[in-house]
Amino acid sequence: MDKLKMHSTDLSQENIGKIRDLFPGCVTEARDEATGQLRLTVDFDQLRQELSGQIVEGPQERYRLDWPGKRAALALSNAPVAMALRPSEQESVAFESTRNLLVEGDNLEALKLLQETYLGAIKLIYIDPPYNTGNDFVYEDDFAEDAASFLVKSNQAGGAGARLVANPDSSGRFHSDWLDMIYPRVRIARKLLADDGVIVASIDENEISNLRKVFDEVFGKDNLLFQVTLLCNPKGRSQDKYVANCHEYLVGYSKRPMPKGSVNVPKDGDEIAANYKLKDKRGRYRELELRNTHREFGKHNRRNLYYPFYVSDSGEVCLDPGQGRQPVYPDWDDGFEGCWTWGVDKARAQLDEVVAREVKGAWKIFRKNYAEGEDGEATKQVKSIWTDKIFHTEKGQAVFNNLFETREKIFQSPKSVDTVRELLRMGTRKDSVVLDFFAGSGTTGHAVIAQNAEDGGNRKFILVQIAEPTPVGSEALKAGFPTVAEITKERIRRAGKKVLEGECHADWGRDVGFRVLKIDTSNMKDVYYRPDEVGQQDLLHAVDNIKPDRTAEDLLFQVLVDWGVDLTLPITRNSVKGKTVFFVDGNALVACFETGITEDLVKDLAGREPLRVVFRDNGFVSDAVKINVEQVFRQLSPGTDVKSI
Ligand SMILES: C[S@@+](CC[C@H](N)C(=O)[O-])C[C@H]1O[C@@H](n2cnc3c(N)ncnc32)[C@H](O)[C@@H]1O
Repeated sequence: MDKLKMHSTDLSQENIGKIRDLFPGCVTEARDEATGQLRLTVDFDQLRQELSGQIVEGPQERYRLDWPGKRAALALSNAPVAMALRPSEQESVAFESTRNLLVEGDNLEALKLLQETYLGAIKLIYIDPPYNTGNDFVYEDDFAEDAASFLVKSNQAGGAGARLVANPDSSGRFHSDWLDMIYPRVRIARKLLADDGVIVASIDENEISNLRKVFDEVFGKDNLLFQVTLLCNPKGRSQDKYVANCHEYLVGYSKRPMPKGSVNVPKDGDEIAANYKLKDKRGRYRELELRNTHREFGKHNRRNLYYPFYVSDSGEVCLDPGQGRQPVYPDWDDGFEGCWTWGVDKARAQLDEVVAREVKGAWKIFRKNYAEGEDGEATKQVKSIWTDKIFHTEKGQAVFNNLFETREKIFQSPKSVDTVRELLRMGTRKDSVVLDFFAGSGTTGHAVIAQNAEDGGNRKFILVQIAEPTPVGSEALKAGFPTVAEITKERIRRAGKKVLEGECHADWGRDVGFRVLKIDTSNMKDVYYRPDEVGQQDLLHAVDNIKPDRTAEDLLFQVLVDWGVDLTLPITRNSVKGKTVFFVDGNALVACFETGITEDLVKDLAGREPLRVVFRDNGFVSDAVKINVEQVFRQLSPGTDVKSI
């Protein structure tokens, strides 16, 4: 029976696999000195020959982002972790039925754990990382020498939040430390993003240039979608040295080039009614002049856009002359020879959208501008400067304080819910999954719930927030919140209730719940990852490779992560032949982590033909039953993937 690996993917090995697909001769296997296991390695001499002459090496100058520590940060993003997501049913809301997740822990570890399950599945990633103002805490990652030792180290890490360190601007590594933190996270985030997904980061003047460079490298500079300037604090920061800053940025990138209009937002109903007063069988429209209204363009420099339409007495428009038809050129009233905005081919193809109107005794040509696009959606472009009050940080604080019924700042400067809702309108469909891995007070979760309630969507959110301790003497601690993660959870609980009290769209599934999953060391003892190193004296101890404090639910979630199964699927717990068995989404995965498993039970489960089944390696009543498991499934349910832990 194959064993589940129970650690996140080793991305270096995955990358080498991709090189092998392109250049099979350049990849070979070599024994890893640390673990003794065979690993893929690249034959660089061979690869150099394949790429002949197109390589930059050594100190040669090139255009790129660099800082001391970049290489280690890159290795860190690729290294696997032996960590687990332990469910906390008490802290969750609607644990059984919700499709939302709240992961408590470091976001680098979270991203690594989520990457298999949500590979290419996230439509919008919104992040609001520490801006590196000189007063921020930045998570100091634990760099390790190589992937294997990283794996083992990760299984020994101490309490979450312990490694959040101050990053004062007096530090010689001020920007490097911030880059060390953001770079590996953004690299993995790209893997989670859907091909048509969008990632947006809030950032201010402190790190905008570095953030842009990191995103340019990870997503490609041609995939910059927008850099919005957001007026967040109209009063300005008086403590600023030269100019009082009152804005910040929203920087958006995609993974692949996106068609024009990809981040348009829906027009609202009132706007359509006010501006699109005409209607035909295709929908509401307004009439816009077909003539180019810019005088710098005309027959003199756009000869191909200067041609006549022919208009009959009754106002019918065509492109061919005929009896009783008058030619109409794009000429201005003062005689200037202008030009149309459409070429003649487009005009011929879309002639039914061209209309003639008599204005002051002369024919003028107009085109129908429909409220809805070809896809039936009425959308409009977003502008690059956002000044509306609804986007101000003050508004974000007011909404938060209102929820917590306080005037004190339990959480400092949460984003405005409306800012995130605008991003949801720009970057999601109604069924999209949205990820925020610097969740803070949980504004993104609140925004998803509120947006769904309004437009009847069923977007799902995944929030990640570390258990950052709230400072001694802070309003948060006084209000009973020892960590930021506690505030996140309470915010979503309160926001969900509040939204349900208001007007809700009939199509909305009313999911205001969330499953809390806490990052912890693996459920498996070290021996699981280094079986070769187990000495004779350890053997007895190693019979059970699962840590004693871990529950069956803990094991189930580590298995879901390992197998890349959706972590929000419904889970039921049944008793089969006297043993507890988990059924995930019916038959998507069946798990039994009990001991004393009999052949009867194995046959019963095989008879249900699950897609995947997993047992505890030492859970069988005898070696004979264990040996027989695969045989039983081959006979009764050959399609089932059978594994053990
Ligand atoms: C600027 S705040 C986000 C505020 C949020 N947008 C809101 O509206 O409430 C950044 C958050 O990221 C969290 N954070 C920082 N480093 C983290 C890490 N390594 N893993 C998870 N969360 C982290 C901090 O605790 C902080 O709450």
